[in-house]
Amino acid sequence: MVAKILDGKKIAEGIKEKIAGEISGWKKKPGLATVLVGDNPASKVYVSMKNVACKKYGFYSREIHLPESISQKQLLEKVAELNKDDAIHGILVQLPLPPQIDENAILSAIKPEKDVDGFHPESLGKLIQGNPSFVPCTPRGVIHLIKSTGEKLEGKHAVIIGRSNIVGKPTAILLLQENCTVTVCHSRTTNLAEEVKKADIIVAAVGKPKLVTKEMVKQGAVVIDVGTTKLADGRLCGDVDFEGVKEKASWITPVPGGVGPMTIAMLLQNTFEAAKRIEKTG
Ligand code: GUN
Repeated sequence: MVAKILDGKKIAEGIKEKIAGEISGWKKKPGLATVLVGDNPASKVYVSMKNVACKKYGFYSREIHLPESISQKQLLEKVAELNKDDAIHGILVQLPLPPQIDENAILSAIKPEKDVDGFHPESLGKLIQGNPSFVPCTPRGVIHLIKSTGEKLEGKHAVIIGRSNIVGKPTAILLLQENCTVTVCHSRTTNLAEEVKKADIIVAAVGKPKLVTKEMVKQGAVVIDVGTTKLADGRLCGDVDFEGVKEKASWITPVPGGVGPMTIAMLLQNTFEAAKRIEKTG
């Protein structure tokens, strides 16, 4: 079997075009504020891509770049200012934050109505209740990609590699809601290969290049690669050995061009939904 490619770039394009069409008649554009603290090169690229997409698809975007040395109090003040700003419907504070900042305190300070990242405790609590307000962007994109295969999810064994708050944990909750049997593997899992071999659906999100090899993959599995590691030669590499695994999977996402573009499309979707709720339009 040679896997079909799950073309995240194309699927994301369709989602963004649809949103752009819906907001084209709006007097007040949906507004996203991104907050970048410091100069982490990867974070800079991600934030810039988010802002470029906002502008291209008819959103208002405000890019806020703050020094690495900022205090927690100053950052909280910035969040409070954005919470009150009527032009802003969604607030995204790019993670990770420098060590002097308590990440959870910042995420908790974002007004839940503007929490387009879905990381506020209220958003995460609602997600667990099965009554989500905002679903975190990457997990939402992962589920969208899996559903776009047309495969039934109910009863499937999904194995997630990685237990981050941003990807692994929320993806596990979402797959449970789709009636999958879910295993979450992490750095202390004793036999990763044995766990992954059982999977009908694999979501790899640890940032270890080519961790998932052909030998670990069951014939016909759906393989979603969230990993993006920049190699010494500048190329991006996923957590999955694409060339090997594509011979066994039924569907596979490429890196780049798989999950990454979906994260941005879902951020626009969440911001669009935030704007509709706040402005009571649509
Ligand atoms: N860092 C890596 N992924 C994300 C994300 O989805 N949102 C934020 N805010 N920071 C990130």
